[in-house]
Amino acid sequence: MRSIMSPLDFSVEELNHLMDVADDIIANPNKYAHACDGRILATLFYEPSTRTRLSFEAAMLRLGGKTLGFHSSDSSSATKGESVADTIRVVSCFADICAMRHPKEGAPMVAMEKSEIPVINAGDGGHQHPTQTFTDLLTIRSLKGRLDNLTIGMCGDLKFGRTVHSLINALVRYENVKFVFISPEELKLPGYIREDVLNQNNIAFQEVTKLEDVLPSLDILYMTRVQRERFFNEEDYIRLKDFYVLDKKKMELAKPDMYVLHPLPRVNEISTEIDDDPRAVYFKQVRYGMFIRMALILNLLDIEV
Ligand code: CP
Repeated sequence: MRSIMSPLDFSVEELNHLMDVADDIIANPNKYAHACDGRILATLFYEPSTRTRLSFEAAMLRLGGKTLGFHSSDSSSATKGESVADTIRVVSCFADICAMRHPKEGAPMVAMEKSEIPVINAGDGGHQHPTQTFTDLLTIRSLKGRLDNLTIGMCGDLKFGRTVHSLINALVRYENVKFVFISPEELKLPGYIREDVLNQNNIAFQEVTKLEDVLPSLDILYMTRVQRERFFNEEDYIRLKDFYVLDKKKMELAKPDMYVLHPLPRVNEISTEIDDDPRAVYFKQVRYGMFIRMALILNLLDIEV
């Protein structure tokens, strides 16, 4: 039995296979419509979510399975003091596979150790968000046709943004990927990502503050929201939240085939005036997220179609 805590739990070859299956699901949805008949997915969300929880549920429903779960710790026995370890033992009695989001880093790992069913980390604090990373990789591969030889800009809250941390970990495994990190000083990448991931792998990267200076060089721009829920101080959040706003004027500086991704939710960092620009692909990205989660559920349940 296998669980997924980090995007690195899959080798590059396994990830390629996962994306191939997602491509096949996109091309032949009917072939997969009953692949999970009789199976149940539990979604245990101790922290709010729209995309991740609903795309896991949509994924299982589109595979013919069923879902159950809770969408906040308030509506579970966590409010009575039940531990994650006990909760997963209980859920293992009801479901075949589980996706868990938790505000504490490492909580899904605690669950995995006690679980009798595969556990998928659906985001743990500021740490990892592997299925968002799989979504991002499938989006880039589908639209650019490759995951190597790319210059990737990441902009916004690079300190607390777990999607950024997960995606960097995954992308350093591809040839000739260069990074440009665009953030205010206070929201720069954590030192451990710079040292243990980028420097250790001899990856070329630049850290800048001004988005306009680097936009013309990018193949992908990965925008992120300033993570209000992880700030200790509301004043700092208010000062930094609108530091970057991608608008039509800035998009004029970008290549005609530069794609804008965002894990969403967006707040103000992308103006709605660019939503109709064909390079703005963040809503397409959401759809890719459902297909890669379908492929992941099949993989972890050992179902071949
Ligand atoms: N991208 C993402 O994780 O969105 P949700 O918080 O809505 O799940």
